[in-house]
Amino acid sequence: MSERNRIVPRVGMVGGGQLSRMTHQAGIGLGVDFSVLAASPTDSAALVCGGVTLGDDRGLDDVLAFAKAHDVVTFDHEHVPEPVLRAVEEAGGLLRPGRDALRFAQDKLRMRTRMAELGAPSPRWRAVTTLEHVTGFAEGAGWPVVLKAARGGYDGKGVWVVGDSGEARGVVDRAAAEEVPLLVEEKVDFSRELAVQVARSPHGQVAVYPVVETVQRGGICHEVIAPAPDLPEDKALRAQQLAIEIAQALDVTGVLAVELFETDDDVVVNELAMRPHNSGHWSIEGARTSQFEQHLRAVLNLPLGSPRTNAPYTVMANLLGGEDPEVYRRYLHVMAKDPEVKVHFYGKDVRPGRKIGHVTVMGDDYRDLLERARDAASYLRGEQK
Ligand SMILES: Nc1ncnc2c1ncn2[C@@H]1O[C@H](COP(=O)(O)OP(=O)(O)O)[C@@H](O)[C@H]1O
Ligand SMILES: [Mg+2]
Repeated sequence: MSERNRIVPRVGMVGGGQLSRMTHQAGIGLGVDFSVLAASPTDSAALVCGGVTLGDDRGLDDVLAFAKAHDVVTFDHEHVPEPVLRAVEEAGGLLRPGRDALRFAQDKLRMRTRMAELGAPSPRWRAVTTLEHVTGFAEGAGWPVVLKAARGGYDGKGVWVVGDSGEARGVVDRAAAEEVPLLVEEKVDFSRELAVQVARSPHGQVAVYPVVETVQRGGICHEVIAPAPDLPEDKALRAQQLAIEIAQALDVTGVLAVELFETDDDVVVNELAMRPHNSGHWSIEGARTSQFEQHLRAVLNLPLGSPRTNAPYTVMANLLGGEDPEVYRRYLHVMAKDPEVKVHFYGKDVRPGRKIGHVTVMGDDYRDLLERARDAASYLRGEQK
């Protein structure tokens, strides 16, 4: 929506978190004009971006004004309400991904309904408004079951594994009081969690990354191994094909992350995110084109870059805040001990359990890489003296 004669497009990202910060970093290399709509000047991306608009990154007035000042707008989270997205599109703002795609990343009930229509392998599930819905479902699926808030959850906030009707009652009552729509899913007996990233441009070009293994604890991603070790070829291809089909069917532009469960004989869709994703941070060093550059290429309708890997394995470990806020002081030891470890720090205030950075290491032996990445992350976190 900016003046026509600009040669370098203006890309705006709604949300000032670490995903924006790392997209900005990729935007520098591409030489695009990148700015963020951040809620606070101390947001991770606002600390480093040249172009920062401070405002409500979920509110109509600020998102609309931001869209008017940019050629294309994309997102580092899925929390902009649908009526805001609609108003921006109706006013001529270019959203990538668009509202029609984002709806499925914003609402797990809609996502599950759409996955069923597409025939994508999914856990058994149903929408829930009463305790009887949960107990009825559990009679067939067996306890425990997984209750989820359809909207607004992240990092495991909004996911409850409940073992009996008493536990379910607590969740259902709270959700009803707070008017949060719920769904129930069977608890999938998975061997591990996987994720796959695919980028899709408005032209319809797609580029798919190798399937990765993600290690989640308490609903938070702790580690990623790329590619997933010993994943049978047929499952890997199926996961990649599934991601491509979902991106096409939902008309996604930008990066789509599909979280999956690996079961004995299949892969099962857990969740979708339509933005760069924690499970793709490994690609900064580990792939020819990082997920952040790829996201920018895709939203700008540029040809996509190669998703090929740079090493047999890349391991990423998240750095979660510990008791020691002085993370930088700990660089000395980590960097001296293992010069191949790459440290990423998001500039956020350190709070226990908060994602404040990650480390990446590449090589041939994923077990060795995992040990080194864990060691670096735990030292930076302050768990070792
Ligand atoms: N149906 C399920 N069966 C077993 N585990 C599940 C199920 N759904 C979610 N989980 C666990 O909870 C985590 C968070 O659930 P998810 O739906 O991805 O929520 P979030 O939006 O918080 O990422 C998953 O990564 C997985 O470890
Ligand atoms: Mg998830």
